Amino acid sequence: MNELKVRVNEYSKDKIPFHGNHFLNGNGYFGVRGTLEEYSKEYMPCINMAGIYDQVEDKWRESVNAPNPLYTYVSVDNKKYALPEAECVSHSQELDIDCGIHKRETEWDTVCGRLKVSSKRFASMANQHAIGMEYQVTTDFNGAVEISTGIDGDVWDINGPHFVKLDVCESDHVISITGTTGEKGITVTTQEIIRIDFDADVSVEKSEKRILRKIKFHAQKGFTYTVKKIALISSSVDDHPCRDDIRTISYDELKSESIKAWEKIWDISKVEIDGDDEAEFALNYSIYHLNCIAPRKLKGKSIPARGLSGQVYKGAVFWDTEMFMIDYYMHTDPAVARTLLQYRIDTIDGARRKAKEYGLNGAYYAWESQEGGFEGCSDYNVVDVFTKRPMRTHFRDKQYHVSAAVVYAFMKYINATGDYGILAEGGLETIIECAGMYRSLLLKKADRDCFEIHDVVGPDEYHERVNNNVYTNRMAKHCFEKAVEYTGYVKEHFAECYTELDKKYDLVKLSKLFQISAEQIYVKEPDENGVIEQFDGYFKLEDTSVDAVRSRLLDDREYWGGAYGVASQTQIIKQADVVAMLSMFKEEYTTDIMRKNWLYYEPRTEHGSSLSACMYSLLSCYTGDADTAYPLFLKSAKADLLLGGKEWAGLVYIGGTHPASEGGAWIVAVKGFAGLEIIDGKPICKPQLPNHWKGMKFKLIVHGKVYCIQIKGNDVKIEEQN
Ligand code: BGC
Repeated sequence: MNELKVRVNEYSKDKIPFHGNHFLNGNGYFGVRGTLEEYSKEYMPCINMAGIYDQVEDKWRESVNAPNPLYTYVSVDNKKYALPEAECVSHSQELDIDCGIHKRETEWDTVCGRLKVSSKRFASMANQHAIGMEYQVTTDFNGAVEISTGIDGDVWDINGPHFVKLDVCESDHVISITGTTGEKGITVTTQEIIRIDFDADVSVEKSEKRILRKIKFHAQKGFTYTVKKIALISSSVDDHPCRDDIRTISYDELKSESIKAWEKIWDISKVEIDGDDEAEFALNYSIYHLNCIAPRKLKGKSIPARGLSGQVYKGAVFWDTEMFMIDYYMHTDPAVARTLLQYRIDTIDGARRKAKEYGLNGAYYAWESQEGGFEGCSDYNVVDVFTKRPMRTHFRDKQYHVSAAVVYAFMKYINATGDYGILAEGGLETIIECAGMYRSLLLKKADRDCFEIHDVVGPDEYHERVNNNVYTNRMAKHCFEKAVEYTGYVKEHFAECYTELDKKYDLVKLSKLFQISAEQIYVKEPDENGVIEQFDGYFKLEDTSVDAVRSRLLDDREYWGGAYGVASQTQIIKQADVVAMLSMFKEEYTTDIMRKNWLYYEPRTEHGSSLSACMYSLLSCYTGDADTAYPLFLKSAKADLLLGGKEWAGLVYIGGTHPASEGGAWIVAVKGFAGLEIIDGKPICKPQLPNHWKGMKFKLIVHGKVYCIQIKGNDVKIEEQN
């Protein structure tokens, strides 16, 4: 297997936002953007906290960034050498994804001679509260140097500032800043301690929002001076409070334990591809990101759509987790997948409240879910580029398919793990409540004998308020089917839970209603050309090309959907919709139908969401066309490797990492190319590798057992590991 490193050898101020994502590090409790130590908030450094949110005035609620303990810069002869202001002579930045270590090396020509700064840092994978950093300075001259290092409480925010109070402290060699959020009074504390093994004059400088140690020393030419820093981040709402005394932590142990933890994670998660280094690298880079954001050792937390790369999309959880990410976790760390589902179980009251708000029964999960299932999405979620006014969008009220995604994820998880116990621990109730929500959406016309669902937004967000979106209706049907099936299972295996729920819901009656709903819901069939119409009237819309629609834009950042977006009145769609449905329910359609729909919809798809390419890729695999699947797979796997992802929706910044795309790439590799299916609790592979791939090797956990899967051409070897 090739080296797993991303690296740049030059500096570009324009790439600061991209590199923040590209070099991201994290441990599930927080994400650390791949920015440089000297950056203050205008260059978007952040330690983005999982599951902590705050609202300032009437701005969007969003996740909170901790006081930044990386903040460090160096001065020579009282002049600060920091990027981007001080031009450098050389610069490199690197992320070793094998062990989660971020490195940078920069040289400046100072008035006294050449100065070299290098740093290594990591978010500990073993101690979720900890960050370690080594900061080194070397000069080719003898002279006075000062390293300033400490905590910056003036953090980057999109809709902040979130800390209404900052307590800046120094006590017994430990410095700290505690920020208190305005809305709920949650505290986030960053403490740090440093170790140096050279003679220096160290003092501490405090200001309202910053605390810095000033390390002054006389540098000897050619000698390297190292500052080792340990930081601990904790909050008043931690699942596992931080009990460490920072003064007793050994830097070297912290580092080696983190490396060991990464080794263990990679042992189960690495995917080897024989014959394609580029794809192998891109896929493992995607897996790296999924590993950085997994809520390990956390209770009932889920993963935001932009991972832990910042406050974009309000740090909120979307259907992305259930449809695109959970597959990876349930086969590499099922406890993480369980935690993701636990989040939905725990937040059901939020979903119930939302259903009620719209006059529905059951549970309607938030489109942008925050803590407690709070709906972070607003009715005006895009800002019009021309008028600068918020535009009415219907993501919040009409994207009903989110609840069905939760149920679909329960089904996938149970099939992969055999953990039916989750049904008795809140799972069945969650599923019943989701099915209840869809039942209250069903409409029956006097002259038709089937149920319809009107006025929805499907995955293709460019067409709002449509009727009988085939994706939504089929997913609702699945939800009814699973509610019936799992109620039967619980009756048979978890009698106590059944009795409890029966008191509340009258399960016999409810199951009958769900059964009828499943049988009678209208799911559009292929027309005479074998194509399924995305929603009522879609075929009547202007049939044009993506390029033609793009050419109508007056501003690159213009939103394509909404009331008068360039795509709204055309057949151009944002992302996989019918194709996503076909990938989910492939056993119900012939290869011919799947192919015809792929061929119809792909040229009409903008792929304006990073969730799109993997779905098309997967369907290509299911139609036996791995070579057509391949470029779309690569696009999905490279979402955070390459510049060029969408950064704007109207005037709203949407840049950040793309974990759904990364999870989607894993799904294509394992379920598409390797052809994984779980039959009777065991993995079976029917591979169809792209032409130039010679083989694949990876591990999987299925029903609690670890399997090593080796594919060579069409030969498959599946070995159970002890
Ligand atoms: C997509 C949604 C997705 C969201 C977050 C949007 O652009 O259309 O399907 O859930 O991004 O990734």
